[in-house]
Amino acid sequence: EKGGYDHFMLKEIYEQPQVIRDTFRGRLLSDQGLIKMAGIEDNLNKFTNAKRIIIVACGTSWHAAQVAEYMIEEFARIPVEVEYASEFRYRNPIINADDVVIAISQSGETADTLAAIKLAKEKGAFVFGVCNVVGSSISRETHAGAYTHAGPEIGVASTKAFTTQITVLALIALRLAKAKGTMSQSDYLRNLIELELIPEKVQEALLENDRILEIAHIYKDAPNCLFLGRGFNFPVALEGALKLKEISYIHAEGYPAAEMKHGPIALIDENMPVIVIAPQQNHYDKVVSNIQEIKARSGKIIALVSKGDEQVKNLADHIIEMPNSTEALTSIIATIPLQLLSYHVAVLRGTNVDQPRNLAKSVTVE
Ligand code: M6R
Repeated sequence: EKGGYDHFMLKEIYEQPQVIRDTFRGRLLSDQGLIKMAGIEDNLNKFTNAKRIIIVACGTSWHAAQVAEYMIEEFARIPVEVEYASEFRYRNPIINADDVVIAISQSGETADTLAAIKLAKEKGAFVFGVCNVVGSSISRETHAGAYTHAGPEIGVASTKAFTTQITVLALIALRLAKAKGTMSQSDYLRNLIELELIPEKVQEALLENDRILEIAHIYKDAPNCLFLGRGFNFPVALEGALKLKEISYIHAEGYPAAEMKHGPIALIDENMPVIVIAPQQNHYDKVVSNIQEIKARSGKIIALVSKGDEQVKNLADHIIEMPNSTEALTSIIATIPLQLLSYHVAVLRGTNVDQPRNLAKSVTVE
């Protein structure tokens, strides 16, 4: 049932090209320049008239929500707030009838997310679900929704659910951009075409597995680890850190790269591995200077770079190459090496990768 893989997590990491394709199949019609999702089409006015969108989720799904915030605001220019469902439900939040609430959940059973949905419904908001498990409580409790097509995710550490969530959320953001006329036609089409290429680019990113295993051997005994990224890759850094802590039990933190100098840089010494997501995009030069600051304090740099990058290669202790895409969609690609890194570190440390201690696959109690 693990399909020849040692663990479900590894199988699920390798399934990503396929399940990302399954998730946009029939919805992304790039040759016609169209995105079709029934749950969005049927409620398009609710989204286009929304004063703001509030996204509620927990854990990895909350990280997907963070990516969605950047995508929806940039593409569709609708204000977005991302909330931990557990905080949202208990803080007497302001929710209006013209708010749209999006709830993201792999299992569709997370207690706090479910409670947040009920609260939003009581206040008259339209609630849209992004779930993986068909017929789950959250998919039933929401007014409409769009499923991810990741298939069953058995490993407690979420992998393919996350990248398919970003896929669905990218489709939504692009559909809303088209409806609102907030994106140039050429940018819109470029994102459609690039989204269609994501499965093969994820496949290419997986080819770095051997190099990542070597890096895992070097750092498997590190007590701490930092993950840095900017823009769309800031939530990817958070997700990389969560993955490492939950399955390898190494203390890890994700940060926006520029926040380093507001505190975490004090942690840097020759024993601190710092994983920096540094594709050749908008913030490239800024990330390069962040890398220089870490090097100046003897930190060990593991950099995720665009294929063929030379500048970071000369600065970093290790590089992991990945293909480029649009800035938003590179977040999907950059996730892959981080999943593999935490997987290999955990295996080398001998932890129970698929069922880490103290964790459950669905958190049905608050
Ligand atoms: O099923 P959900 O997406 O609602 O689950 C939310 C979190 O419990 C989940 O993402 C958790 O953080 C994972 N173990 C992360 O790998």
